[in-house]
Amino acid sequence: MSKSMELNDSKLLRLNAYINGAWVQSYSGETFDVFNPANGDCIAKVAKCGQPETIQAIKAAEQAFKNWRETGAKERSAFLIKWHDLILANIDDLAIILTTEMGKPLAESRGEIAYGANYIKWFAEEAKRIYGDTLPSPVSDKRVVLIKQPIGVVACITPWNFPNAMLARKIAPALAAGNTVVCKPANETPLSALVLGELATRAGIPAGVINILCGKTTEIGEEITSNPIVRKLSFTGSTRVGKKLMADCAQTMKRTSMELGGNAPYIIFDDADLDEAVSGVMACKFRNAGQTCVCANRIFVQSGIYDAFMERFKAATEALIIGDGQKAGVDIGPLVSARAAAGVRDIISDALTKGASLITGGSKAINAGENYIAPTILADVTADMRVFNDEIFGPVAPVFKFDTEDDVIALANDTDYGLAAYFFSRDIGRVWRVGEKLEYGMVGINTGSISNEMAPFGGIKESGQGREGSKYGLDDYLEIKSLTMGGISSPQK
Ligand code: SIN
Repeated sequence: MSKSMELNDSKLLRLNAYINGAWVQSYSGETFDVFNPANGDCIAKVAKCGQPETIQAIKAAEQAFKNWRETGAKERSAFLIKWHDLILANIDDLAIILTTEMGKPLAESRGEIAYGANYIKWFAEEAKRIYGDTLPSPVSDKRVVLIKQPIGVVACITPWNFPNAMLARKIAPALAAGNTVVCKPANETPLSALVLGELATRAGIPAGVINILCGKTTEIGEEITSNPIVRKLSFTGSTRVGKKLMADCAQTMKRTSMELGGNAPYIIFDDADLDEAVSGVMACKFRNAGQTCVCANRIFVQSGIYDAFMERFKAATEALIIGDGQKAGVDIGPLVSARAAAGVRDIISDALTKGASLITGGSKAINAGENYIAPTILADVTADMRVFNDEIFGPVAPVFKFDTEDDVIALANDTDYGLAAYFFSRDIGRVWRVGEKLEYGMVGINTGSISNEMAPFGGIKESGQGREGSKYGLDDYLEIKSLTMGGISSPQK
């Protein structure tokens, strides 16, 4: 084990696939390397699975579904609560694993694990509230009732940026509703996923209910999308990959939930509370070094407050401490890989070449290493620059000056994405007008923080479909069935 990963419980570090309650090597014996983005060290060799192991996992989930769907709601809930409790009891180790393979500061890793656990607890509670309905009948002789039932085997494909929480918020509603799952976490961060399998075993969740494997992404993905036993795919990742997966799922008419990319506008009107706007943008832009779908991607500041905002935003940004996420006090860790960092540098260079002004930071490599990007503010940004259209996924804040409400709404909506948007204003009329006109699934008003298990998370337009969390989140994992009963009015002879 890597020296940088000294855990209280070393058995939490799992390197093989979790299939049918057992830890299995890839059939070929192949492994792939997992790296610490803070220093490039190889920290683990994980089983490199492909199509045969995926078939095995799908069969295990199909078999386990037979009993799990019959397990009472209260019992399913109790399993989830136990899993939740074990995750929190081991939060220190889970945070070390997460930071070591993904790079975010330890405090953020702990925050993510608690955030993921909140979804598990929420859906454990919701498992007991899967209500049906009684519907009016078109004729007096009939009665119509509606029941909700699990879908079956659900596949979950999750990204590296929130390797714990994204998986937790898919597995929890799936299991709460009575489904079983086959999970394919990102190859950059398999350890944070596999440890959830270990804790599921300790929580007594029956074999086959949760299966987790990584490795040959295309092969695993193709099996998941083509296999008719899989009845639903829940995916979090890029819009490009989401479109491909959805098209592939159409062949077997699987249900899909797609949590895809974003291009969040963050609008500060002249009447905003400046303190709130600055603290909001710091949390929203620099969380996870900007590697978040709901991060502020384009910051629009009205001309009357522009200078005051920029002065405070620059000072707060320059106070951020960059470094290895394991070290105390670090605010911004490395990006997940050198490739990701190079992509962000290209986006900065594109803006500077096209006339943006560098307020702080920039694309030059910094001493900490090639995976690190200095928190950057760009001004004089225009809509022809990549920062306006691309999901930046790095600690880069492009700032636009605007004059009128109509102008900024047009600019904010001028994107194919529709995940999250934010604005700051104390004018109640404007709050309603702008809140209603922004074409986004989630709008933060006077706050830069919108994610929690009690609110529906999800987007519109090319940011996807479906909702995670809240009372609506369970519906994505349930089928509606109507039972129509006839022969009511004539008594039996
Ligand atoms: C994401 O970036 O995909 C998720 C962010 C969140 O849950 O707040």
